Amino acid sequence: MTDETLSNLLHEDRRFPPDPAFAEAALAQPALYEQAKADRLAFWDEQARALSWATEWTQTLDWSGAPFAKWFVGGTLNVAYNCVDRHVEAGNGDRVAIHFEGEPGDTRSITYAELQKEVSKAANALLGLGVEAGDRVAIYLPMIPEAVISMLACARIGAAHSVVFGGFSAEALRSRIDDADAKVVITSDGGYRRGAPSALKPAVDEAVAKAPSVKKVLVVQRTQQDVAWNDEKDVWWHDVVDSASETHEPQAFDAENPLFILYTSGTTGKPKGILHTSGGYLTQAAYTHRNVFDLRPDKDIYWCTADIGWVTGHSYIVYGPLANGATQVIYEGTPDTPHKGRFWEIIQKYKITQLYTAPTAIRTFMKWGDDIPAQYDLSSLRVLGSVGEPINPEAWVWYRKNIGGDRTPIVDTWWQTETGAIMISPLPGVTTAKPGSAQVALPGIGIDVVNDTAESVPNGSGGYLVLTEPWPSMLRGIWGDPERFKETYWSRFDGLYFAGDGAKKDEDGDIWLLGRVDDVMNVSGHRLSTTEIESALVSHPKVAEAAVVGAADETTGQAVCAFVILRGDAGYDESQSEAVIAELRNHVAKEIGPIAKPRQVMVVNELPKTRSGKIMRRLLQDVAENRTVGDVTTLADSTVMDLIKKGLSTAD
Ligand code: WTA
Repeated sequence: MTDETLSNLLHEDRRFPPDPAFAEAALAQPALYEQAKADRLAFWDEQARALSWATEWTQTLDWSGAPFAKWFVGGTLNVAYNCVDRHVEAGNGDRVAIHFEGEPGDTRSITYAELQKEVSKAANALLGLGVEAGDRVAIYLPMIPEAVISMLACARIGAAHSVVFGGFSAEALRSRIDDADAKVVITSDGGYRRGAPSALKPAVDEAVAKAPSVKKVLVVQRTQQDVAWNDEKDVWWHDVVDSASETHEPQAFDAENPLFILYTSGTTGKPKGILHTSGGYLTQAAYTHRNVFDLRPDKDIYWCTADIGWVTGHSYIVYGPLANGATQVIYEGTPDTPHKGRFWEIIQKYKITQLYTAPTAIRTFMKWGDDIPAQYDLSSLRVLGSVGEPINPEAWVWYRKNIGGDRTPIVDTWWQTETGAIMISPLPGVTTAKPGSAQVALPGIGIDVVNDTAESVPNGSGGYLVLTEPWPSMLRGIWGDPERFKETYWSRFDGLYFAGDGAKKDEDGDIWLLGRVDDVMNVSGHRLSTTEIESALVSHPKVAEAAVVGAADETTGQAVCAFVILRGDAGYDESQSEAVIAELRNHVAKEIGPIAKPRQVMVVNELPKTRSGKIMRRLLQDVAENRTVGDVTTLADSTVMDLIKKGLSTAD
């Protein structure tokens, strides 16, 4: 983000105070901040009591092994029981948990009582396949109810799930299966995407062939596509789950029992397995979901458009909403299938009250035009949420006006895979909203913006976003790599968690997020590592060297731009450049997944390097964003940038 856009942002002076009627009835009241401030740990105790525990904890937080935290020490609970059974026991078994909307238009509504049976059957089936408490199960599924059922079934038997986004490649899946030593993979023949069946099983077959830890593959039939079958490993869901017993007695596990691993991009090539545990995670997921969305389980129909392959799907489709007994909609497909009004049609059909989506989607809807949402009745909406990247004030205002009827509060929620749940957000009915700013830490959360030497910056200044206090849903580590956990998050500033984001405090002390400060890009709200894509490019036989930067993009926030040096023996001449570029873009899509496919690949003869050999991506970003190239004095060869620019202009 340039200084110019930053100062524009900070001159944003539109304000949206809460509607008085909403404020009066809101679940979250200003006193929540006071209460958390008065006694933070007692505040979290109270939030944890909203769950059902088999054994009460004896200590709220054990921080003696910092930065490895233990929350609700000695407490035991079953996460799936909390998300399903207790609602049935409370007399709400007939309440719909999930309204599933398939992309082709098929639908299915599942009540809490039915969900209890489905999860129990799946839990019994997993046990039958040899999964035990403490094992890992990889889940590679489209957005269908079986994805939620699978996650809850793992939680129910104390096995950790590792959900891998269905858009990731076989290789990405294999490396995640290997890293977690997953015993079982749950997948499907395919899912529906943009009006056509899209296969998933072939990627699993390819990954499992090279992943010896996998003993069984459980396959849901969704599209009826032909699949290759391995009699030794593959089993159909409809064979083993449908015939399993509908009852399963949930056992209580320790509050710190691993619940899931979710891989996310870091500054080096290898994805990090972010580890979350049970009691603290569920406490904060449920607390934030209730207060940030003002959730009324008996009245509301909530919809989060994320995929369960991302953390937003974990915390705000599965664990938060279900722990709160919410009724929600799950949609399988894309927003433009079969037409560009699909989202608004779904909102009208189910009378959705809360919508949680991402800025990249909002900007796309803006581009498609106001007249599309205007054709639908969106008056049921009460709260709108945004997550994944900074939302530009114009997109925020468009969202409120065209989707929220100039009436609904918008919650711009900042958090990360690592934080497990929302950390910074306005509270609906409490906060006077500022478009473009996530504003304030939630009650119970400690944040600050600090300078290079870890000093808190004054209002009106920028720096690095840090978290100053441990929080219940914090990551408990990186799977199998405790050193990397300490190094990545806790070594930059003593005693503070470094989030990797730049931020600024405005004159009121409100927080404005400014994007990543490390080598992580944010493309459509998805984190991608520059190094990971560079490694993929260099693995292509024609590429000698590669540098990747994130360049500003109107729709996706950032876009992947790659600069590559081809190998001398690649036999390349300029006439083939288009073919080579297409080949390299597809190569990245195959290695990592279509979301990582570079928007642009530029063939160059040199890359800008410092004397110590470090690539200066900042200068390449100037080129990718069509800016005057910045300071080149620290380059080993200061003429390189001229050569690159000259080469690119003749290639055009
Ligand atoms: C960015 C997604 C600004 C940020 C939940 C963070 C945001 C990264 C916001 C985490 C927001 C997320 N405003 N930036 N409201 N929400 N980010 O792990 O850079 O996929 O570090 O978790 O997304 O991405 P992740």
